[in-house]
Amino acid sequence: MEKSFHITTFGCQMNEHDSETLVGLLLEKGYVQAEDRNSANIVIFNTCSVRENADKRFFGTLGQLKKRKMEEGENFTVCVCGCMMQQQHVVDTLKAKYPWVDVIFGTHNLHQLPQLLDNLYKEKEKQISILPDREEIVEGLPAKRLYHHKALVNIMYGCNNFCTYCIVPYTRGREKSRAPEEILREIRNLADDGVREVMLLGQNVNSYRGKSADGSLTDFSALLHQLQEVKGLERIRFMTSHPKDLSDDLIQAFRDCPKLGKYIHLPVQAGSSRVLERMNRRYSREQYLKLVDKLRSAVPDIAISTDIIVGFPGETEEDFEETLRLCEEVRYDSAFTFLYSVRKGTPAEHYEDQIPEEVKHERFNRLVEVVNRISAEKNAAYLGRTERVLVEGPGKNGDGTFCGRTESYKLVNFAGSPEMTGCLADIKITGSNTFSLTGEIVGLETGEE
Ligand code: 5AD
Ligand code: SF4
Repeated sequence: MEKSFHITTFGCQMNEHDSETLVGLLLEKGYVQAEDRNSANIVIFNTCSVRENADKRFFGTLGQLKKRKMEEGENFTVCVCGCMMQQQHVVDTLKAKYPWVDVIFGTHNLHQLPQLLDNLYKEKEKQISILPDREEIVEGLPAKRLYHHKALVNIMYGCNNFCTYCIVPYTRGREKSRAPEEILREIRNLADDGVREVMLLGQNVNSYRGKSADGSLTDFSALLHQLQEVKGLERIRFMTSHPKDLSDDLIQAFRDCPKLGKYIHLPVQAGSSRVLERMNRRYSREQYLKLVDKLRSAVPDIAISTDIIVGFPGETEEDFEETLRLCEEVRYDSAFTFLYSVRKGTPAEHYEDQIPEEVKHERFNRLVEVVNRISAEKNAAYLGRTERVLVEGPGKNGDGTFCGRTESYKLVNFAGSPEMTGCLADIKITGSNTFSLTGEIVGLETGEE
């Protein structure tokens, strides 16, 4: 029987890329990718543990599969993996309440999925394999990219920062950087395969320290300089930067590296120094604002986005108003806003001054109003400008509109055609709203020069 699989991915780009690797591994072994969950006989969930929402959604969706598993038995395989599996209490819950799940694995052993499936089919026994964090990075895994001309590339794994609200250091382990040669080799291969834009991924790319075979170390700005040389590559982006590690060298790299997109995601999390300290962010409001000034003096038109948590334990109305004022001061191009949710095993779980849900929601709504107004104003400033856009393909609304992103990572919708995908287009911006721009093509470059 043909074995077809479907992966549902929760969470961040790191997880998206892990899923690309899982797809690559399974295709290599002769499995085929199904259109949707219903038509697949192997269903995989790649989970996220960062906020409560994602884990509720996971259990909800998983529960819906029980009936089918009971009916189809061995002919239907359910696998779960990802960050949630690195938490013992989640694995215990799965064992107790979802004993029909066939395969459970973690973030440190993605590459073992084909083996685990083989074992399952041979031994007819469920497979649970969670590895603890380890130094070794498994290189050379295949990946099936979601897009032809843009790719996600991990440059490091894990996080050492232990922000008091965050589960990531526990689920993804300690920081580990890939060797620069491995990253360069991967990106050269991608560029040869038609990739024009890469997104370098790490929980905190600013603390990248890649070790070469001769023992020499490469930091993040040096890596960016090296990547400039990759032929065919047009744009380089990265995610995420921790403000405490944003170096002057990196700011300078925005000026010196023409392929580096003029966009930075710089999570602030809160606008009050008191809250930042309780979050263990290791910068103050003033230091953050100074960084933004430095970035804007070096690159006046740089776009800045952020993450903000509302309702962290002990956040007073005054603290929250400082967050609102900070947004007014920085004027973010976009901001991802989150309601604080307790994560088991983090220090903030034990903070006594948790904020009532209704207060969190009320503050959240006020914040969204401010950040959306500013995003709309920032986007409106693009009206009449001509922007160089990398054409990504048809947009999501299915009306034949194409989309792409400006150098500053703004989403632009325009009338295009399939052969433009992967090309750079000059687009005159004729419309704007909170989350995107619209425009008309005034020039097109194929990239074959
Ligand atoms: N509650 C709410 N938001 C959180 N984030 C991380 N942990 C939590 C939590 N416990 C947010 C942070 C981070 C983003 C990826 O998720 O803003 O930058
Ligand atoms: Fe979590 Fe902080 Fe690490 Fe980001 S830097 S992953 S918020 S602990």
